[in-house]
Amino acid sequence: MHEVERAVRRQGADVVEVLIPEAQLRQRVEEIGREIARDYQGKPLVLVGVLKGALVFLADLMRAIDLPLTLDFVGLSSYVGTRTTGRIELTADLTRPIEGKHVILVEDIVDTGLTMSWLLERFRERGPASVAVCALLVKPSRARVEVPVRYRGFEIADEFVVGYGLDRDGRLRNLPWVGVVKE
Ligand code: IMP
Repeated sequence: MHEVERAVRRQGADVVEVLIPEAQLRQRVEEIGREIARDYQGKPLVLVGVLKGALVFLADLMRAIDLPLTLDFVGLSSYVGTRTTGRIELTADLTRPIEGKHVILVEDIVDTGLTMSWLLERFRERGPASVAVCALLVKPSRARVEVPVRYRGFEIADEFVVGYGLDRDGRLRNLPWVGVVKE
């Protein structure tokens, strides 16, 4: 588990406290990248980023994987404000078939798990050689369905987090670390 850095920053009207500083993110992402490179050597690997939250994590992660790979994205709408709605829709689909490929779904955070379990089901129908989940963050106390998260960056408490790609109402994605908004 990570150490908590008690730094606070203001972005516009929001006061955000650092939960996972940049150096820890960098170090953990590099470890995951090395693990993936070991596990997928010689396999046709496709990283699929879930837009938009996984963007920053994916950009760093892919450069930490020293293997040939391809990249694709899916867009999902399921989250309004700070709570899940339970309704999930694909707003952007893959650009290439994944049949016979080894797929890693890259997500910013697995909260209740509903989004990822829905997505895994859709992906398995498409005949990939394998599908694994890689999530930067997991909130174990919020889990409503079990999701096999093979690669996980950090487990965090039940707090709403922002930064490093994660947003609150579309903002705060560009903070270089993961933080918690102080009300
Ligand atoms: P789940 O279906 O409840 O697992 O929610 C997954 C999605 O909800 C994630 O991909 C995020 O987009 C969003 N989400 C869940 N928790 C947070 C959070 O703490 N901060 C920002 N987004 C979150």
